[in-house]
Amino acid sequence: MKLFLDTADVAEIKKYAAMGLVDGITTNPSLVAQAGKPREKVIAEICDIVDGPISAEVISVERKKMVEEGLALAAIHRNVTVKVPLTGDGLAACRDLSRQNVKVNVTLCFAPVQAMLAAKAGATFVSPFIGRLDDLGETGMDIISDIREIFDNYALKTEILVASVRSPQHVRAAAKIGADVCTMPPKVMGQLLKHPLTDTGLAQFLADHEKAKK
Ligand code: E4P
Repeated sequence: MKLFLDTADVAEIKKYAAMGLVDGITTNPSLVAQAGKPREKVIAEICDIVDGPISAEVISVERKKMVEEGLALAAIHRNVTVKVPLTGDGLAACRDLSRQNVKVNVTLCFAPVQAMLAAKAGATFVSPFIGRLDDLGETGMDIISDIREIFDNYALKTEILVASVRSPQHVRAAAKIGADVCTMPPKVMGQLLKHPLTDTGLAQFLADHEKAKK
């Protein structure tokens, strides 16, 4: 499973890219606003750090404007993937952009049948939001199994990009189901690599090494 970071924080991206863990990046307007820089600038900076798909989301909500905005975003760098919302206009823009060989990530997906529509519209990625479904008392990960089954039934090539991830448990479940990509906040990536037994084991090894020197 590919691991993406869900952030526009360049320092965090550099930190995990140095460990070889980052296959791509997803951003959204909220994350770009937190970065406090113009969207185009931050996307260009990220493209210089990570050689993989970098999702940049359109702000427009109308098909023609989304396509114009998407083409401008795609012109920033060959790795930019244009993110459009899962609306009627968003799907039409997805179709238009994908026909112009622009990679599209259809976002704000909350149901398996929505994901099927994104695939039909030519999406490279579809982003089901797991955590936000959990917040409503549902089991968000259930839609990932359903989407996997539907996509496999029809050999649909759109990649399932598990989003709105809140914990290492989400990452583990996504990997077990066979999702193509999981995007997560830097905090969750940090949690993935930590285990208390790794820390205590290392401390013990170092202490024993010091004792042996005496
Ligand atoms: C995905 O592309 C979105 O940016 C993101 O995963 C949303 O996560 P949230 O529900 O934690 O805001």
